[in-house]
Amino acid sequence: MSDSVTIWEVAPRDGFQPVGPFIPTETKIATVRALAEAGLTHQEVSSFVSPKAIPQLADVAQVLAAAKAVPSLVACTLAPNRKGVELALAAGAHRIGLFMSVTEGHNFSNVNRSVDASFADLSALVHEIGDRADIRFNLSCSFHCPFEGVVPEAKALAMIDRVAALRPGIEIGVADTTGNAAPDQVFRVFQAAIARHGDIFAFHGHDTYGLGVANVEAAFRAGVKVFDAAAGGIGGCPFAPGATGNVATEDVAWMFSRMGVETGIDLPKLLAAADRIAAIPGVTPGGRVRAVPALRAA
Ligand code: COA
Ligand code: ZN
Repeated sequence: MSDSVTIWEVAPRDGFQPVGPFIPTETKIATVRALAEAGLTHQEVSSFVSPKAIPQLADVAQVLAAAKAVPSLVACTLAPNRKGVELALAAGAHRIGLFMSVTEGHNFSNVNRSVDASFADLSALVHEIGDRADIRFNLSCSFHCPFEGVVPEAKALAMIDRVAALRPGIEIGVADTTGNAAPDQVFRVFQAAIARHGDIFAFHGHDTYGLGVANVEAAFRAGVKVFDAAAGGIGGCPFAPGATGNVATEDVAWMFSRMGVETGIDLPKLLAAADRIAAIPGVTPGGRVRAVPALRAA
């Protein structure tokens, strides 16, 4: 097992996207900066999606521009279709997170088209983007779908195989969008995926059923070294009914530090940033270690 992992901070994207009251752009930018100062050098800062679908992220271009100016920050923006990729490239994105779902039910709900239509569009875009930007290909609902239930492991692996065939070494984000995955399922899917395709995977988990950290540990044990998490445990897909926040970055950071695995995160600074995020009007915070006084005293 690895002695270091990369944490992608997703509070500015997954965390903010379901929040009702518009979060001022300056607050979003201050959040990105505070998290970068806490050692979160990789952040998903926003999405190039329809502002009708996700009004909260309508200021994506401004947030990306500010994020690009933060020293040593690797900023990613998401895109679900050609228009999103064109807008991202025009805004100077260095890294694009494509996304679609493994299941028809969630793909239609989220991006209004079939799995095959999304895959055809996104696979053409992988080739067209070429070396103009780094790519991660995210697969939502790889373990459970709010409309179809638990996803058979063979179905998730078949979709992973299709994506892996697009380009050698393409990074694939495997997402538990609803937080319903179980650790044994997470372990088996990543063990099989890594056996077939090598070390190209990231795990994106939610904490709806309290298994967020257990699932991160299961993915880590299977060989995953890249994890998404949101400070303050905020987040959720507005098109996945029943899903709640991402696994909290501070919980993941604490677990790895307790295991002796390097994340580069300054926990006291992260806790201070997470407190400010949790206090933003309209957010629903989660996670556990923010409530532990001993971690504050350190
Ligand atoms: N960014 C900004 N605007 C976009 C866009 C993008 N990536 N893709 C499409 N649009 C605009 C179109 O220009 C069009 O605008 P108009 O009404 O002013 O002419 C409008 O959105 C509808 O375009 P269409 O291609 O018909 O899309 P749609 O209505 O079928 O919606 C998506 C498809 C993908 C654009 C929309 O469902 C979406 O943005 N989903 C994002 C979901 C998400 O982010 N979920 C959370 C992450 S898991
Ligand atoms: Zn998510």
